[in-house]
Amino acid sequence: MAYPEFNMEHQWLPFTPNRSFAQNPRVFVAADGAHFTTHDGRQVLDGISSLWCVSAGHNRKPINEAITRQLATLDYATAFQVSNDQAFKAAEMIAALAPGDLNKVLFCNSGSEAADTSLKVALAYHRARGEGHRHVFIGREKGYHGVNFGGMSVGGLPANRKVYGTQMLPHVDHMRFIHDPVNHAYIQGSEPVWAEDPLLELEQRILPLHDASNVAAIIVEPVAGSAGWYIPPQGYLKRLREICDKHGILLIFDEVITGFGRLGTAFGADYFGVVPDMINFAKGVTNGVIPMGGVICSDRIYQAMMQAHSSSPEHAIELFHGYTYSGHPVACAAAIATLQLYQQEGLFERAARMGPLLGDAVHSRLRGLPHVVGIRSLGLAAAVELAPGPVAGRRAYEVFMRCFQNGLLVRPAGDNIVLCPPFIIEPAQIERMVDLLADAIAQPA
Ligand SMILES: Cc1ncc(COP(=O)(O)O)c(C=O)c1O
Repeated sequence: MAYPEFNMEHQWLPFTPNRSFAQNPRVFVAADGAHFTTHDGRQVLDGISSLWCVSAGHNRKPINEAITRQLATLDYATAFQVSNDQAFKAAEMIAALAPGDLNKVLFCNSGSEAADTSLKVALAYHRARGEGHRHVFIGREKGYHGVNFGGMSVGGLPANRKVYGTQMLPHVDHMRFIHDPVNHAYIQGSEPVWAEDPLLELEQRILPLHDASNVAAIIVEPVAGSAGWYIPPQGYLKRLREICDKHGILLIFDEVITGFGRLGTAFGADYFGVVPDMINFAKGVTNGVIPMGGVICSDRIYQAMMQAHSSSPEHAIELFHGYTYSGHPVACAAAIATLQLYQQEGLFERAARMGPLLGDAVHSRLRGLPHVVGIRSLGLAAAVELAPGPVAGRRAYEVFMRCFQNGLLVRPAGDNIVLCPPFIIEPAQIERMVDLLADAIAQPA
């Protein structure tokens, strides 16, 4: 294949096998609705909302126009010591969507930055209240909180940690992975009921080991997304909230994937009926069009930080943290337009309606196909788990490649294939997506 328009020598591709990519490039040059156009003129269905981002579909006029307008009005202004009108408006809208007393938004630019921001806020909050000894963070095996040092350390995907092991944050522990492959291999639109209590380990081993009084925060994804859409046991998150309350530990929900409608509710917190102390967000907040992330903090956290400085001099900064592009006006204009679009088109409700169609399709079409050992669906997302072959992850990668050749973008995650289409997906497109995936799984390697 010839690529006259671009030279592929200089981009080092992230989370991608660069050597084999060069042999078989997958390059998009345009997108509209639920489809991409490739450099060689093929249409590819975006079965993963471009990695959980483009929930409203590609090339949405109201978002594009808001960005263009903003560029011509206020292109950029520093975020330190001054601010911009779009940032206040976006924060107000995000706070209005968030549950409970989660009302204060700290902006950043990605989910990874959101993870580190929330961990730093946890330390600062405890210190402000005279509990600076709280320094231990607890994450979960197979959790994903991005690639920066904080998020990587509390994260639990071995491949992401292996090479960097010696320089992880100290004083981090991990709760067990919450999946029962024997009794709950197939989950359709519900939370599995566990006979044993998966949080006993937290109460009986992890907290006593570190002493609960030293623990600053527990961070979890409501549904483990990057690992392959692993759904929490019934009551798990409620019980986690109770344990945190009992010991004065902050609970952080990383909602980079579950935020903004994926489960048919604004946040996973709403779906599971649990209000954390902080919610991390990114991706869908701007429909993925402009990078943005953030942390929604409770009033309690914000007030404690302000209170600690009640007698500080006027110029004293309460939180030494922030990014050059925190609350970038163009990103905020994109967020405002995106959140309006979600509301005007009822897209969260649409995700709630399309989810069961996706669930029915994957369970009825994929169960029993070669190597399929599990299928999990909840909200508008599903994962099909393949038996690990001789080389871990190889089978899922091969299915991903076959899907791509046949016009469907899926996400290989370990031995899983994940589907999480845009909320605008049509029932016929769901059928087509699942048919293409079924063909790719059934096809001999
Ligand atoms: C739950 C979660 N947290 C954090 C991140 C990292 O986000 P980013 O890639 O924007 O840094 C992701 C990315 O997929 C994620 O799923």
